[in-house]
Amino acid sequence: MTQSTPAAHDDEQRTYASVAQAAAEDPKAFWLGAAQAIDWVTSPTQALDDANAPIYRWFPDGTLNVCANALDRHVEMGNGERVALVYDSPVTDTVREYTFTALLDEVSRFARALADRGITKGDRVVIYMPMVPEAAIAMLACARLGAVHSVVFGGFAANELAVRIDDLRPKAVISSSCGIEKTRIIEYKPLLDEALRIATAQPEFSVVVQREQHRAELRDGFDLDYADLLAATPEGIDPVPVLATDPLYVLYTSGTTGKPKGILRDAGGYAVALQWSMGNLFGLQPGDTMFTASDVGWVVGHSYIVYAPLLAGVTTVLYEGKPVGTPDASAFYRVMDQHDVNVFFTAPTAMRVVRKEDPDAEHARTADLSALRAVFLAGERLDPDTYEWTTKTMAEATGRDIPVVDNWWQTETGWPIAANPLGIERLPLKAGSPTVPTPGYRLRVVDPAGNDVPAGTEGLILADLPLPPGTMASIWGDDERFVSTYLSTFEGTYLTGDSGYLDEDGYVFVMGRTDDVINVSGHRLSTGVLEAAIAGHPAVTECAVIGVHDETSGQSPRAFVVLSPNADPETISQELVALVRSEVGPVAALRRVDVVDALPKTRSGKILRKTMRQISDGEGDVVVPSTIEDPSVLDAMRATLSRRAE
Ligand code: COA
Ligand code: AMP
Repeated sequence: MTQSTPAAHDDEQRTYASVAQAAAEDPKAFWLGAAQAIDWVTSPTQALDDANAPIYRWFPDGTLNVCANALDRHVEMGNGERVALVYDSPVTDTVREYTFTALLDEVSRFARALADRGITKGDRVVIYMPMVPEAAIAMLACARLGAVHSVVFGGFAANELAVRIDDLRPKAVISSSCGIEKTRIIEYKPLLDEALRIATAQPEFSVVVQREQHRAELRDGFDLDYADLLAATPEGIDPVPVLATDPLYVLYTSGTTGKPKGILRDAGGYAVALQWSMGNLFGLQPGDTMFTASDVGWVVGHSYIVYAPLLAGVTTVLYEGKPVGTPDASAFYRVMDQHDVNVFFTAPTAMRVVRKEDPDAEHARTADLSALRAVFLAGERLDPDTYEWTTKTMAEATGRDIPVVDNWWQTETGWPIAANPLGIERLPLKAGSPTVPTPGYRLRVVDPAGNDVPAGTEGLILADLPLPPGTMASIWGDDERFVSTYLSTFEGTYLTGDSGYLDEDGYVFVMGRTDDVINVSGHRLSTGVLEAAIAGHPAVTECAVIGVHDETSGQSPRAFVVLSPNADPETISQELVALVRSEVGPVAALRRVDVVDALPKTRSGKILRKTMRQISDGEGDVVVPSTIEDPSVLDAMRATLSRRAE
């Protein structure tokens, strides 16, 4: 271990190999041991229920409350005056700190206000909010009641919100009057109202956090003002014990089909895994500070802005701003300096954006980053160039060797599948690799027939079942889809949907998705959803969306459409860009639509999206299927794709 490695354990004998071996050899004993770091109402005596394999449930006889673990227990231990959450908002020029006592007070009173209006254990609540503390407060208040929250990212449009409301059938919706982007104020309330107009399912009431930058009009008898509710609720409410296997939240993510998947997270397994990860992976201890620059609408935000830091008694920084433009590329360094951040976590794309504006990292040198111990990057592949630049920047700014840790995970897993486990042992890094499987994950790489491939050979990445605690419990309301999508392709394994390889040293290399999911600026999007929006335009007869390489955002969506005769390509292209923005949301970031005469297909009618993407990215050996219907269509497509740089 080097000096800069965060100290996280008492037992100096522990190595990554010994911990991973213990987790693999006896997962039940390993995780029951880890479960002791959580305060249970009834301690689990059984680690794993495998009666329903391949669906497993962790800690079936344990009961707990996740909110009580995140807040009450720190207060009870005498740490109530420590800072739990720092709200740092350059877009509103605000910095506000909540101690554990203050956060508990507001969460508990808001939970009572919800309970007074009929929210009880098992009810669903949709949260559609910008990066304000009330978003975290709403999540924790639901957890306190055993209600199931589902946060929908603010960059999604009304239609996507409506789809989620219909799937989840929430009893209440919690929102905000507005969000503040770099150059404009986004009114959330009209988007929510529009979603409720489209949706079939109708919640009983909504709660709105009114912000001074823009106040929303509230509907009598339906919309309640958050501040009024709190003012009228002086007393909090006790946490409601739930089974470890009860749901904590549903978080929708993109899949191959246009229908979003509600990833279901249980309470107990998640709490155990996150608590374990804070010390062992991130090397963080109570009293430390973590700054995760992401959004509560994504899994990284759920786990490492809200739940994990608070569970571990670590101060979390909730940042309402961007890497650049709020006001410039100094923003991240300023936050790290001002709040003495020990671990900084963001997506590689955010570092690329910072680098573009401040290539020599001048801003890093003027900041005091003496508290910083490590940088974690996740959400997309960390390209070696961005890794090298970030490492050099942090070393120059601190005069120390700060590890830059690529970590690989998914909404489904809830915490890293692979990482450099800094709290156990700092392993040598290899650029382009998120290092090694996290203890608890047993990874394999196979060919399409399911045969293990040799080290260094790319294939489908699988994880042997059972997965460790904290990973998805199911798809909301659809165990069958859970099994058919993830658990039945190769018996006894979880299909990650990513391809990659393991090298001779057991390092993982993740190369990309094997399905129609694309990753734009660390946001996961389904090309199917974009295609569905485009196909809704009356002049479009056929369309295909692919993700093409982009220097900054990793991938960007590009659409190809065949139009009905006499349609004007120029006008329709612009209409389609606007349509995707209004139907899917600004986050889809579709900026380019090409009108073509035909799409390349196989004789059975399958559009050759992969071939199109390979040509677009300039990959050397593009495989053109022998079943191609008309090779001349592909030649024409080559010409269109080569116009990318124009
Ligand atoms: N609410 C409403 N609109 C939003 C939004 C939100 N929460 N977040 C983004 N948008 C809008 C943006 O304003 C932008 O609109 P524009 O087309 O009018 O400019 C559009 O969506 C595209 O946004 P994005 O591509 O994300 O650009 P950005 O400048 O807003 O942010 C990054 C750039 C790098 C900061 C951002 O993409 C990011 O944080 N990515 C990392 C995501 C992440 O943490 N992933 C971890 C894995 S879960
Ligand atoms: P999400 O569910 O939005 O977190 O997206 C998960 C997907 O992002 C994964 O399946 C990967 O394709 C990609 N991803 C996340 N982190 C990494 C990483 N460190 N390296 C490579 N790909 C990653």
